Amino acid sequence: MFEWDNSYKTGIQSIDAEHLMLFSLMNQIKININADRGKECVADILDALSVYASFHFANEKKLMETANFPEIDDHITEHMNFSRAVNNMKTKDISIYKVQSYLIDWLICHILGTDAKFVRFIQNTKVVQ
Ligand SMILES: [Fe+2]
Ligand SMILES: [Fe+2]
Repeated sequence: MFEWDNSYKTGIQSIDAEHLMLFSLMNQIKININADRGKECVADILDALSVYASFHFANEKKLMETANFPEIDDHITEHMNFSRAVNNMKTKDISIYKVQSYLIDWLICHILGTDAKFVRFIQNTKVVQ
């Protein structure tokens, strides 16, 4: 299971709540794999990831714009890459393990790296408390 702990917490409530949804989706993947339903759940998981991406990325974009975050373009590029990757996976007969490993990479590189960076900026400029 992917346990949510303080290392993932940004301190911005809406962001944390949305990141927690991604954890929950990753746990659903694990539950389906354990129940031998990995193949059956792929389409639903990918659809849920598209929905997640649409509102979560819009929320982060709004926060970055409000704070005049200077690296917003690079950040948005990473979001677009995520959405593109999910759409791409939808067109293929992709294994749930590939989806799972993509999300683990995303968690480590984007949430713990890229997101943490903009949140630090926002907190330092005190636009969001
Ligand atoms: Fe995020
Ligand atoms: Fe982000």
